[in-house]
Amino acid sequence: MSDQPPSFIPATPEGLARAASLLRAGECVALPTETVYGLAADALDAKAAAKVFAIKGRPLIDPLIVHVPDLEALRRVAEPDPRLDLLAPLWPGPLTVVLRRRQEVPDVVTAGLGTVAVRIPAHPVFREVLRLSGLALAAPSANPFGYVSPTRAAHVRDSLGARCPWIVDGGPCEHGVESTIVDLSAPGRVRLLRPGPVPLERLRALLGEVRLPDRATDQSAAQAAPGMLDRHYSPATRIRLFPAGGSPGPVGPREAVMFVRRRPGQSGPDVFHLSESGSVEEAARNLFDLLRRLDARGHPLIHAELADPAGIGAAFNDRLTRAAAR
Ligand code: TXA
Ligand code: MG
Repeated sequence: MSDQPPSFIPATPEGLARAASLLRAGECVALPTETVYGLAADALDAKAAAKVFAIKGRPLIDPLIVHVPDLEALRRVAEPDPRLDLLAPLWPGPLTVVLRRRQEVPDVVTAGLGTVAVRIPAHPVFREVLRLSGLALAAPSANPFGYVSPTRAAHVRDSLGARCPWIVDGGPCEHGVESTIVDLSAPGRVRLLRPGPVPLERLRALLGEVRLPDRATDQSAAQAAPGMLDRHYSPATRIRLFPAGGSPGPVGPREAVMFVRRRPGQSGPDVFHLSESGSVEEAARNLFDLLRRLDARGHPLIHAELADPAGIGAAFNDRLTRAAAR
């Protein structure tokens, strides 16, 4: 860690070469992915990975996702699984799989589990840094533990500040919510651990039966995935949810209202919407940015509309519900 103010590294060939050499030297660098910004470090260097936990204030029991360029590189950190071939149409992309780990992955990355979470990201900037560094990169979302994930370079600077001295600016993230996570570590069983941009419907079409997270065990079972904790992704401001297409209850003075799409007749200084075009994809892309902006405005309460749960709407509702949990 360092005391120097964070500096944005442009996503130019020189900038990405610099990011790759910092990573090779065991430093942490924030990088854009197609989901959210990640705080990357060499996944096979225990010391570098430990810095990620320190910067985020993340408990050591919460394992990191390892990012690799392709299936060949994936096989160097995880045990092969025949179901990976079925998922090939989704890679590179916003899908993370949990597999049996290989011993090469340090314990700090997997939190000592027998499994490792792996993902092949699609973002051209992240892919170029993978290629230039030749590393597998451990990268959690680049935010303080428990807070809203960053979907723009400025979000990383605003919430990690000098703790994260290098941030590659790749513009806003395409999906705006974190990757879908599926657990393939038990033979013959597939379990969704976190909904994301790859919808459950798509996974079922490729894999057959996919079980849903078991809330009872997942809350207690030593945090199988803290992203699944009831309270996570939380702004400081209280949030009250209202149903898709419905109306907020009584709105008090200075309370904000956040609609998924523009509503005719609904306007005012404290009324906001997430999508101009009306698509849930656009709403998901803007969700964390608007939550951060509203959090800075000091509203006593945010009334937030849930989305239609089809497609990425399930992930949108998941994050909003956790942000609202107290
Ligand atoms: O889209 C994403 O996945 C972003 C970008 C940067 O790739 N990353 C991300 O990482 O969201 P993070 O650390 O914020 O969330 C990863 C989740 C955590 O809830 C963690 O507990 C879970 O994945 N996880 C990691 N390894 C696991 C494992 N072996 N078994 C079960 N859950 C695991
Ligand atoms: Mg996170």
